[in-house]
Amino acid sequence: MPMDIFKITGPVRLEGEITVSGSKNSALPIMAATIMAAGKNTLHGVPQLSDIAVMCKLMEDMGCKTNTAGNTIILDTTNIDKPFGDYEIVRKMRASICILGPLLARCRKVEVSMPGGCAIGYRPVDIHLRGLQELGAKIELKNGYISATVNGGLKGANIFLGGAFGSSVLATANVLCAATLARGKTIIEYAACEPEITDLANCLVKMGAKITGIGSPQLTIHGVKELKPIEHTVIPDRIEAGTFMAAAAITKGKLKIKNCRGDHLMAAIDKLRSMNVGVEENEDDCVVWSEGNIKPTDITTLPYPGFPTDLQAQFMAVLCLAKGNSVITEKIFPDRFMHVAEMSRMAANLRKEGPHVIVSGVEKLIAAPVMASDLRASAALVVAALAAYGETIVNRVYHIDRGYEKIEEKLNAVGAKIERQSV
Ligand code: EPZ
Repeated sequence: MPMDIFKITGPVRLEGEITVSGSKNSALPIMAATIMAAGKNTLHGVPQLSDIAVMCKLMEDMGCKTNTAGNTIILDTTNIDKPFGDYEIVRKMRASICILGPLLARCRKVEVSMPGGCAIGYRPVDIHLRGLQELGAKIELKNGYISATVNGGLKGANIFLGGAFGSSVLATANVLCAATLARGKTIIEYAACEPEITDLANCLVKMGAKITGIGSPQLTIHGVKELKPIEHTVIPDRIEAGTFMAAAAITKGKLKIKNCRGDHLMAAIDKLRSMNVGVEENEDDCVVWSEGNIKPTDITTLPYPGFPTDLQAQFMAVLCLAKGNSVITEKIFPDRFMHVAEMSRMAANLRKEGPHVIVSGVEKLIAAPVMASDLRASAALVVAALAAYGETIVNRVYHIDRGYEKIEEKLNAVGAKIERQSV
């Protein structure tokens, strides 16, 4: 099977306007939530990505009809007759787990494959299962599948959803969805506060759900009998926006990043400013510029509103060229450092010590053939390659295609030299 590679020639200086797509991580749980609103649901601003196509396939397999036109997807969930998530699909995309809560609420039974290994480290699903059990689900694990059933309907409860690494985004999505159709009142303590959860909650409210505390770690849900189909536009992708910010910073460039919510990126913007990178926040865009002279800084990833793990690798790329030493600490996925070895091949000076990486700034990065390992690590290699001297070959760009819509077209339009080739 042919596999795409990127040939990236650097260094370049990025300048101009670049537009952020809708959020993948918002669209995926919202698509799953439409399972509970029988009828035609219309979602706008959905990025055209392989992960979205995988979600469509998963939903089609359970009886949903999907129709995609550009960035709009119509999900007709009138008939959902096979509450099942097949291993062959779930192993391609862990986010498939977000069908668990909605299917349980709608069909009162569901079987979903346990997600398998993941390039960013061990990712258990215990919090999802615990939360659904507290709503009355009976859960069994058999033959690699999670089987959940509920007799007599879900029942509201007070649920503490914290885990060893804090809140969980998709566990919050699953339990929140299921609680909207449970009998009585549910309180979720230690809910994830990520903007994608807020978007999901706002979408559920449009469907007729009764939720208060949206955006806070305590969500209160009063169960309703049914939800109705909606039309909804997903929020801009804050991680794509943050990746473009890193690209402007590393190329000593100036980008006007459109469809960008600065209020969703406060931790990243704060770090950029302390790194000597200029950021101007406007109503619908952010302008980011750098004249070089990147200052070192320390970054610790945390649940929202802390610094996002999904931008850790891209900011590491920028800090590789800082004048001094930085320490990056990963507190969400302590093994999410596959990019360290690849960036070292580009002459970065990095030392990993447990969940920390010490980044000693170098004068320049030098192009090399590198391997994309997961979505954000791959994006970081592209960011690094924009500033590296020579031609970087990024292998396995299918990882990037999972989460960045037309990335090479967007970056080439502002001065990058990225060529996609099938090999
Ligand atoms: C979401 O994954 C995102 N995925 C990830 O983005 C993102 O990195 C992550 O949140 C953290 O922000 C989607 O939204 C589709 P978690 P999720 O449950 O929900 C532990 C990308 O690149 N945990 O919030 O699966 C877990 O191991 C992807 O777009 C448990 O211990 O992440 C981690 O340490 C990659 N038990 C922490 O919680 C559980 O049952 C947070 O993970 C669940 C999670």
